[in-house]
Amino acid sequence: MSYLVVYMSHHGTTQKIACHIAEELGSGVTLVNLGENDVPDLTSFSTIIVGGSIHMGLLQKKIIGFCEQNMETLLGKRLGLFLCFMNKAEGQKEFDKVYPSALREHALAKGLFGGELLLEKMNFVERMVVRTVKAVKKSVSEIEEDEVAAFIDTIKEK
Ligand SMILES: Cc1cc2nc3c(=O)[nH]c(=O)nc-3n(C[C@H](O)[C@H](O)[C@H](O)COP(=O)(O)O)c2cc1C
Repeated sequence: MSYLVVYMSHHGTTQKIACHIAEELGSGVTLVNLGENDVPDLTSFSTIIVGGSIHMGLLQKKIIGFCEQNMETLLGKRLGLFLCFMNKAEGQKEFDKVYPSALREHALAKGLFGGELLLEKMNFVERMVVRTVKAVKKSVSEIEEDEVAAFIDTIKEK
């Protein structure tokens, strides 16, 4: 099995999860940070996993672009989609909003992983913004580890 994990991450949480997924899938995994790397030729991968995070209600533009530009190819692959966010009450709604319905319906694994608020990595404006998402005085990690594990199992099994 050849896996491609494509992700974007502002403060490292999605990256951490993408790396964990890649490790758990074993050999034959290519990890691509769309903020730093070019998109490889997708034809050689049997499974493609796409992950991003919500900032001010939006998914990273490069993830949106990747999904739009490669829609037909992605619909022909084993597909996993995941999302990091902090507003748990809105997680499913955000997931349904940011990923195209065709991809959501096609995906064999969908991950709503929660996220982290890492104050030490934020600038002043970001700290102001996150107060509208969650009132925090120190960094918090609310990654849904069971969801991540279930996502990996689904990708491996199906
Ligand atoms: C400036 C900023 C804005 C955010 N806006 C939202 C938001 O609108 N909704 C939400 O659920 N989480 C929001 N979050 C939380 C992020 O989704 C969370 O920190 C996630 O773990 C970030 O992952 P990343 O570091 O991989 O980008 C925001 C975080 C920051 C720093």
